[in-house]
Amino acid sequence: MNLLEEIKNLSREYFDDVVFFRRHFHATPELSTQEHRTAAYIAARLDEMGISYEEGIAGTGIIGHIPGKNPASKVIALRADMDALPILEQNKVEYKSANPGVMHACGHDVHMASLLGSAKILHQLRDHWSGTVKLIFQPSEEKNPGGARMMLQEGALDHPRPAAIFGQHVFPGLPAGKVGIRSGSYMASADEIYITVKGTGGHAAKPELNVDPIVIASHVILALQQIVSRNAAPYIPTVLSFGRIIGDGQTNVIPDEVKIEGTFRTFDEEWRQRAHRRIRETAVFVAQGMGGGCEVFISDGYPYLHNNEELAAKFRRHASQYLGAENVEELELSMTAEDFAFYSRKFDTCFYRLGVRNLENGKTSNLHTSTFDVDERALETGTGLMAWLAICELTGDL
Ligand code: NI
Repeated sequence: MNLLEEIKNLSREYFDDVVFFRRHFHATPELSTQEHRTAAYIAARLDEMGISYEEGIAGTGIIGHIPGKNPASKVIALRADMDALPILEQNKVEYKSANPGVMHACGHDVHMASLLGSAKILHQLRDHWSGTVKLIFQPSEEKNPGGARMMLQEGALDHPRPAAIFGQHVFPGLPAGKVGIRSGSYMASADEIYITVKGTGGHAAKPELNVDPIVIASHVILALQQIVSRNAAPYIPTVLSFGRIIGDGQTNVIPDEVKIEGTFRTFDEEWRQRAHRRIRETAVFVAQGMGGGCEVFISDGYPYLHNNEELAAKFRRHASQYLGAENVEELELSMTAEDFAFYSRKFDTCFYRLGVRNLENGKTSNLHTSTFDVDERALETGTGLMAWLAICELTGDL
């Protein structure tokens, strides 16, 4: 049997099913840690396919097992995330979110549907490959501490331990039919910064009696810009952005405190820890120098995501066989974050992008927007390619 052609045939054959799955997920989105109906739907589809699984992993997660010939010979894992975002969908489509204010605006509906399609293909072809495929349906990607971290803490990936983990994510930067990969460092670590600047409020006409936290906060924000411009090594990409500043006084009232919130992102663990220290010291000493005080809380988010170089090279080769080399693109470094990075700290991993853009029918919105949607032809690519990658990884080059 020509497995490559067979996988292509099956992904065409199952395309309507996979689109149906995706539209179901899209219409019934659930927020992080609340993916109960989503999990039940996945479990029901796996039951129909005759694939065994464990439920209730890290809350609502599911891990399926597809044994091929000689199941203990090698194990690999394929991952899809399950949660949606708190966004009110603006698309006028028949499969629009029926849960107003919650939306699959990051394509996790596509990831789940596509993985169900891959599972169906792998299960059907199980006499033609060796090893075991683990299916990871992971909850709560969008929210700290991240479902991946919880799954690892529960030891969900330990028995058996996969030799490689693949994840795919939709990407409006590429048209449907194309995929993208970047070897080595690909996505940034991301930490949340919460700063409270403390002063002494009072009448705005009597500054001599107050310690003005608004002015101190302004200096703190400007001083912190030096973390990137003067402390970060120029060859380590680093971002420090503040998206929220609350000083709730009046035109004539100076408040007692100001809250500042932001995000810190980079690609180096040692620098990440040092930067946290520098952020704390800078904010505290600037505030103290001006007669006020400052509390800094940094919530550790996801680490940076590293694609194993050997797996990335194999991905390029196998994806080129499946899609043609002209449809496999090199990706740029991204300052966005992904909790798949937790797997990449402990396993050899490969996280690639699935093109979903379509200029002709207006599927061009970015991730996390109220008008995000995909060219569903990407589902055929995603379904077949992941099955092909799994078989190639388990069997060696075909
Ligand atoms: Ni996502």
